[in-house]
Amino acid sequence: MLKQVLYEATNAAAAIMKEYANKNFTISNKEGINNLVTEVDHKSEEVIFKIIKENFPDHYILSEESGALIQDSKYKWIIDPIDGTVNYANRIPICCVSIGIEISGKIQMGAVFNPFLNEFFSAEKDKGATLNDASIHVSNTQSVKQSCLVTGFPYTYLDMENGPLEVFSKLIRKGVPVRRLGSAAMDLCWVAAGRFDGFYEHKLNAWDSAAGYLIVEEAGGKVTDLKGNYYNPYQPGIIATNGIIHQQLLDVVKGGDV
Ligand code: IPD
Ligand code: CA
Ligand code: CA
Repeated sequence: MLKQVLYEATNAAAAIMKEYANKNFTISNKEGINNLVTEVDHKSEEVIFKIIKENFPDHYILSEESGALIQDSKYKWIIDPIDGTVNYANRIPICCVSIGIEISGKIQMGAVFNPFLNEFFSAEKDKGATLNDASIHVSNTQSVKQSCLVTGFPYTYLDMENGPLEVFSKLIRKGVPVRRLGSAAMDLCWVAAGRFDGFYEHKLNAWDSAAGYLIVEEAGGKVTDLKGNYYNPYQPGIIATNGIIHQQLLDVVKGGDV
């Protein structure tokens, strides 16, 4: 029942993204330059809330645009109604709906759907990860030097030691391809599917990574924070890899050489 409602909400939100993709919609700015929110982010969120509330009126909901509906429940839905809003607003089809479900403080289920590529990723704790119902697995690449990586940059520049541009520059100077898709949930799912060998980002919110991180782990990958600790979506940094290159990439992100 929980999974059914998760899929229903994810599909309904993705249908709204698709419906509005060729229409005019309003775009406004949140704090910072180019931190956008569109009318469609709100519409997507509305339909997700409606479906959850109809089925589970007492569940806790945390969602990017509406904040938290705090309720005393062991179930918590963590929602990004559109991950990759800047892409969506520019009609770039790399964006998705991302919904994770936490039970008693642990993410147990996740779904990420990009309706433009028709790719529906999902995972359930200890039951594996799938792409359009077919099982997926992380890559087998053995080193960072042989890897194809992906990263993301926060809306506001992070001026810190070993910050996003420093790590990016170090990898690029050594000839390691590092892509920037503009959707953290897609980045994570594409690591899970073995398209990328690793992903790192310095500053994410829980709704960006809640579903994708479980999908990577269930696809056999490894996910930690930027210090190598067990991943917690309520802190900002993330490294998600095929597991084999994890320690190497972690060392690079912490300031080591490629
Ligand atoms: C953003 C995307 C992007 C990442 C940013 C996120 P949004 O989410 O996931 O890839 O680099 O940190 O905020 O704003 O499109 O939902
Ligand atoms: Ca996001
Ligand atoms: Ca978003």
